[in-house]
Amino acid sequence: MQHFLSVKDAIDVQALVKEALLYKKTPYADKHIGKNRTMGLLFFNSSLRTRLSTQRAAQNLGLELIVMNVGQDGWGLEFEDGAIMDGNKAEHIREAAPVVGQYCDIVGIRSFPGLLDREEDYSENVLNQFVKHTGRPIVSLESATRHPLQSLTDLITIEELKTKPRPKVVLSWAPHVKALPQAVPNSFAEWMNAADVDFVITHPEGYELAPEFAGNAKVTHNQEEAFKDADFIYAKNWSSYNEYGKILSQDPSWKITTEKMALTDNAKFMHCLPVRRNVVVDDAVLDSPNSVVIQQAGNRVWAAQVVLKQILLKII
Ligand code: CP
Repeated sequence: MQHFLSVKDAIDVQALVKEALLYKKTPYADKHIGKNRTMGLLFFNSSLRTRLSTQRAAQNLGLELIVMNVGQDGWGLEFEDGAIMDGNKAEHIREAAPVVGQYCDIVGIRSFPGLLDREEDYSENVLNQFVKHTGRPIVSLESATRHPLQSLTDLITIEELKTKPRPKVVLSWAPHVKALPQAVPNSFAEWMNAADVDFVITHPEGYELAPEFAGNAKVTHNQEEAFKDADFIYAKNWSSYNEYGKILSQDPSWKITTEKMALTDNAKFMHCLPVRRNVVVDDAVLDSPNSVVIQQAGNRVWAAQVVLKQILLKII
């Protein structure tokens, strides 16, 4: 694996999941593979799970770590070629990225979309410029349009909890108070379309994901219909793709409730976290035995560990 930016970088998705579950049993099996190597984690945006789980995964492989909140502590970065830098951006990506590459053997980047300009966000300019200029393998820690470490984690969690060979997995839009990126649902859809699951997406009208992400999923605006016989409910809010970045609905009737979970085949409740209680999902669902959000978050370590191992095997 050269970079980890999307499902396309996983040559064999099932093999990756299997290996991650092996790491869960034997976290230190490859304790020395990262010896004398350093990973840099650069955050343009906040994080709890991605930051800590990737650090833990790197430590399990013997990697040294450098972590920086570039959004807060770094120089303002210019990404435009040919820019006359007489404004408030002090450093160009053409210097910043290769400098980071001098200190780190692998670099993780978290950079959220602005949600103002769809073309700009979906061009993945920030991530692609790091890929182009760093000269090191790049791991997406969530970009403008995808969150592949989260999606690999989600697939690992489904694989370890499924009770039938081809479970029904439902991605359900849920209300929120803020306009959120499409990165998590896009990425989840991309990975579910690559997995052996019966995949359904349910959302209010106007919340269609970009066709390249929705892929072959069944899409319905009837949430209750979607929940029938489901084995996994994956709740997430996202803002509109077509009316880019807009909140078109905050309809509380889309919140995940015990009554809706009762329509499923005893489904597990999943969410990438953080989650706003009693806005996205009721306390009673999150606190029920069917909620697997903590186990899911725990699996972030094994997803990151298997990805870092694949990258290390390429560079050592
Ligand atoms: N799910 C997730 O990526 O969590 P953080 O934003 O806290 O990293």
